[in-house]
Amino acid sequence: MKIYAHRGYSAKYPENTLAAFRAAADLPIDGVEFDVHLTKDQQVVVIHDESINRTSNGQGFVKDMTLQALRGFDYGGWFSKEFAGETIPTLSEVLTIFRDTNLRVNIELKSDIFAYAGMEELVLKEVEALGMQEQVVISSFDHEAVARVAELAPNIENAALFVNTILEIVEYQEKLPAKALHVSLPSALRRPVQEAIQRGSVVRVWTINEVEHVILLVNSGVEAIFTDEPEKMMVFIKENSV
Ligand code: G3P
Ligand code: MG
Repeated sequence: MKIYAHRGYSAKYPENTLAAFRAAADLPIDGVEFDVHLTKDQQVVVIHDESINRTSNGQGFVKDMTLQALRGFDYGGWFSKEFAGETIPTLSEVLTIFRDTNLRVNIELKSDIFAYAGMEELVLKEVEALGMQEQVVISSFDHEAVARVAELAPNIENAALFVNTILEIVEYQEKLPAKALHVSLPSALRRPVQEAIQRGSVVRVWTINEVEHVILLVNSGVEAIFTDEPEKMMVFIKENSV
């Protein structure tokens, strides 16, 4: 089973910061996942929430602030004093960390809350500028964005994110179209997703932080898990030949 570090190495470092990404890049794992939003001046930045309230010492929506304004806050101190001074990374800064590694890079478009018109084009432009088309997977809970990525860049791997599975997931995946399915643990084990796996769909599961949950996924056919604890999962998967 493959391992993707979720929001970077987010159990030990503040999520979605350069510190969390550098730590993930140093591990012999398979991939990394992070979330992107658009600033007021149309810059693609890496942060999970639509506002900076939870993961910085500032307040407000990303979409209402310029990159320069967003850079005025601290994105590490909330996690631990040791990381005070971490900034909000841009997409290209994060891509650059992984460009010379073997890790797959999963960019999650967080356009399911605010629509962020034109976000797909801006993300693809940065991926193409760095020549990372084969290294990235672009996913979203916003399936209009997933379809738009397929239309704009059919050679790039796109993935539809699901909280719950739907009954006709195989047909739905073909229709979007999406190359992969990123699903929750309960969904991964249900009949529709199992059928998709049997028919050749690549399925990855978010967010698995307990080894007991990895055990449930043994023999399920899923390709990878997203985890905040990449080192713990690496050890478990290796020791148990999962
Ligand atoms: O992309 C997988 C996972 O990150 C989806 O949920 O809320 O952690 O972005 P979330
Ligand atoms: Mg995510």
